Amino acid sequence: MKQFAVIGNPIAHSKSPAIHTAFAAQFDIHLSYIKLLAGKGQFSPIATSFFERGTGANVTVPFKEEALHFADELSQDAQLAGAVNTLSRQRGVIKGDNTDGIGLVRDICNNHGFDFTGKKVLIIGAGGAARGVILPLARENPACISIANRTHAKAVTLAEHFSDYTHINALTFTELSQPFDLVINATAASLTGQSLNLNANIFNSETIAYDMMYARQATPFMQFAGSCGATAVDGLGMLVEQAAKSFAIWHGIMPETAAVITTMRRNGRVVECTGFENRRL
Ligand code: ATR
Repeated sequence: MKQFAVIGNPIAHSKSPAIHTAFAAQFDIHLSYIKLLAGKGQFSPIATSFFERGTGANVTVPFKEEALHFADELSQDAQLAGAVNTLSRQRGVIKGDNTDGIGLVRDICNNHGFDFTGKKVLIIGAGGAARGVILPLARENPACISIANRTHAKAVTLAEHFSDYTHINALTFTELSQPFDLVINATAASLTGQSLNLNANIFNSETIAYDMMYARQATPFMQFAGSCGATAVDGLGMLVEQAAKSFAIWHGIMPETAAVITTMRRNGRVVECTGFENRRL
């Protein structure tokens, strides 16, 4: 039986084992998927020990950057994201990938019916969660991607980092006055229930407002966007879709996600987001 794991800290409430077990059942695949708690400085020894037998591991907060250095080879997504959430052992070589952005794109396109072509996209936030999703968003050919961050200099740095891949610019919060087709909240504000003090004009009835976080109740960002007429959605689909892409890397088949998302929404109590996994609100 092939062995898989998710490594992080904290890890107890990770949904990854349940999601991967549900995917495996679709194909009659028998696998072992465990949670591995790593303390500070323990990521590398724990991952090394796991990969003596293991086939693949998901990596979550706070080890995605360490996983980048642990991998022998990196995908372009992982390289530009500066983070790895999926490790695979193939013929003795450890490959590092990042499926967060693909998960976000798949959720927005497949589950929410959004076509990026020619659309104006705004990302709020310029931390690891934002950086992790920009390249896959850029591949969908939006008209432009704007980044707004409380600390403007970080938005500028991020826009420069991806300037070869898409039309991308950095805006201050006060410059946000025009409507966008898609607004993605990649800040950590929802984790603490904080509002973002956004201009209502960035939303209209055509806007999708996407919070990368998943909570039982709508986040302040979702509530505000909804009150401005936008369609507000949470990041539960992204959580499942990024897992589906990891599953496809390991098993060579893409699982169905809709039923898994429905089950998790019915049962879900834990606040999760692929950018900020396993933290509670
Ligand atoms: P992560 O790797 O999870 O993205 P991070 O790198 O610490 O975490 O980034 C958190 C992001 O959320 C940053 O963009 C941060 O803005 P600053 O760069 O100005 O710190 C943003 N953020 C967190 N709380 C916020 C708040 N209350 N309002 C606006 N932005 C917030």
